Amino acid sequence: MTDVEATILDIRPLAQGYQVITLRAPAIAAEARPGQFIHLQVANLEPTRLRRPFSIYDADPAAGTLFVLYKVVGLGTRHLAALPIGATVRVLGPIGRPFPLDPVGEPFLVGGGYGVAPLWFLARNLPRRGTLFVGGRTAADILETERFREAGWRVEVATQDGTLGTPGLVTVPLDLALAGGVRAELYACGPDGMLHAVGERAIAHGLRAWLSLDKHMVCGVGACLACVQKVRRADGSEALARVCVDGPVFEAREIVW
Ligand SMILES: Cc1cc2nc3c(=O)[nH]c(=O)nc-3n(C[C@H](O)[C@H](O)[C@H](O)COP(=O)(O)OP(=O)(O)OC[C@H]3O[C@@H](n4cnc5c(N)ncnc54)[C@H](O)[C@@H]3O)c2cc1C
Ligand code: FES
Repeated sequence: MTDVEATILDIRPLAQGYQVITLRAPAIAAEARPGQFIHLQVANLEPTRLRRPFSIYDADPAAGTLFVLYKVVGLGTRHLAALPIGATVRVLGPIGRPFPLDPVGEPFLVGGGYGVAPLWFLARNLPRRGTLFVGGRTAADILETERFREAGWRVEVATQDGTLGTPGLVTVPLDLALAGGVRAELYACGPDGMLHAVGERAIAHGLRAWLSLDKHMVCGVGACLACVQKVRRADGSEALARVCVDGPVFEAREIVW
């Protein structure tokens, strides 16, 4: 894990409120694994100077670049979105337990909104292609699906307002795919409700599901306990895990909801 001053090399606006930034951070790009995140601080601009966690959307070790796909939701992300190309931010990373890369059967990736970010880095590094199940409130929350299709992934879309794909939650197309008793390994990133639903389905079908938890974080390095999650140890006892360093990726059976 290193703490570096990273220059913004590029800014690519997506749908309303979402964008992808390219950062020059060679030491972090060289180490980054799918599922890990960076802890980013918008220096000088932000009064609180707190860092914010963002999944690594992609990394190019040869070019020394990192990619972050984010949504503007509050103070920190508003300040980040106001920075021009050439500005710098402080970046600590890579942090956390990555996704395992040895799927049994077909990889099923499940995400929504910015939850698709770690899934793209994962898709690029898995040994085989599979299906991306992507959900959102509306069509504007369905991001970057063309990249997955071009890379040979099947894409199943669901929107709650029915503006794109199957109407309803992302679990609607997922349930259809699981109904045939397929051998699959699930990987998901999104809000707790979605992760819980994906985990329940994996357990019911006897499959593994790797869930990337989205918890509010402060230190990002295991010191403050702001991000704890109740988990079940291998011996059946319960404990508190720090999502920043013991996760953010947990297998569904480890999590006590
Ligand atoms: C491991 C991890 C990976 C993440 N990856 C991404 C990513 O790839 N792209 C992305 O856009 N966001 C990601 N997030 C969420 C991101 O960290 C928050 O959106 C960000 O910290 C909000 O900062 P802010 O100052 O703009 O918002 P604040 O002003 O702090 O809060 C604004 C609103 O956002 C909510 N919020 C704050 N933090 C979170 C959070 N962690 N999860 C959900 N809601 C939150 C607050 O409750 C509030 O309603 C990730 C979070 C974690 C823990
Ligand atoms: S954010 Fe401080 S321990 Fe996880």
